[in-house]
Amino acid sequence: MTLKRLSIQHLRNLSSVDILPVSRVNLFYGHNGSGKTSVLEAISVLGLGRSFRSHKHKSLINHNQPAFTVFGKIEDTDGEIALGVNRQSSGEAVFKAGGSTVASAATLAHYLPLQIINADTFQLLEGSPGDRRQFIDWLVFHVEPGFFPAWKDAQRCLKQRNSLLRHDRIDRFEVAIWDQELIRLTNEIDGFRRNCLATFNTAFAPLLKEFLAIEGLELHYQRGWDKTSSYDEVLERGFEQDRKTGFTRYGVHRADLAMQLNGQKAADILSRGQQKLLVCALKIAQGYVFNQLTGRRCIYLVDDLPAELDQQYRQLLAKWLDNMETQVFVTGVECETLRDTWQHLPQDEVKVFHVEHGKVSAATELPVAATNMKSGE
Ligand SMILES: Nc1ncnc2c1ncn2[C@@H]1O[C@H](COP(=O)(O)OP(=O)(O)OP(=O)(O)O)[C@@H](O)[C@H]1O
Ligand SMILES: [Mg+2]
Repeated sequence: MTLKRLSIQHLRNLSSVDILPVSRVNLFYGHNGSGKTSVLEAISVLGLGRSFRSHKHKSLINHNQPAFTVFGKIEDTDGEIALGVNRQSSGEAVFKAGGSTVASAATLAHYLPLQIINADTFQLLEGSPGDRRQFIDWLVFHVEPGFFPAWKDAQRCLKQRNSLLRHDRIDRFEVAIWDQELIRLTNEIDGFRRNCLATFNTAFAPLLKEFLAIEGLELHYQRGWDKTSSYDEVLERGFEQDRKTGFTRYGVHRADLAMQLNGQKAADILSRGQQKLLVCALKIAQGYVFNQLTGRRCIYLVDDLPAELDQQYRQLLAKWLDNMETQVFVTGVECETLRDTWQHLPQDEVKVFHVEHGKVSAATELPVAATNMKSGE
């Protein structure tokens, strides 16, 4: 899929931006604080309803304005669709797809599947199980239509069950009704996750070899309760303890993806750089499996690439993104560093944008400094 046009009004320091990205590599360069990450945040607003940087919507709205608007034209396998998001400082939000208002950001996510690689993504290994669940569920959400409704219903059941657990006098019969539904949904969600991860592991193995020349790395899906018991046994057995703690201690809301290297936690062994590469490989493999299972391609947003990866690994990441023939949006302070990473691609597949004080313009040629540097080499 391709984001063919992107218009932004009053998002952070971007007062009015209207650009036509190319279907492959779009590079954004400019000084610190010029607005590069904000451009990626605008794309993330279109695809997630929010910024990848923060859940706080208000901070996205330009200080002097009451609202921001982002509009995008997407081309997918089955035609074009316009997406729009408007958020007011009052908290009100309107999401539009194909001219109609849609109820939730999940609809936007369906139209615009995004993969984000930024400094926070590199916390995936050391971060909380919630970060890794989000990682697993990205793929499950996009390839398994039954997942989202089941997940939403499971959240509702858990909330109800937890609130019943906190009552002074508990009606076991009422809890049992919610348990029944929760057990059904839990097994369904666990099945979806398990299937997706099995496919994912197959794609991930060869990528990992190239990215990380490290033997013995394994991903283990942990479903959120012990391996040997059924979920109904877990709920039954753990009831008294759940009641004491006031919440359901086990279930799909506790799932995790353990990454181990020869039996030890990978985060404890791998260097910071190696961890970054591992995360890149994970992200690339997700896009690859998504493509295999749906025939669609997701868009990659890579923030401040040169700050995160050195030249050799930038090149490797670029190669894998190229192999996927997917659209990418990459930011960095220096134009030449970004351009060098994709110098092997024909000119019409790479578009360079200069970001300056919240203005974004398509650069027709490399800046003078970069051209001089090249001729002096
Ligand atoms: N709500 C807002 N209204 C106006 N300006 C804002 C708002 N929020 C952030 N800014 C400013 O917007 C500018 C753009 O920030 P952004 O993070 O996009 O810069 P950047 O080009 O990615 O910089 P860096 O290279 O340091 O990462 C910054 O100067 C920031 O202070
Ligand atoms: Mg930035």
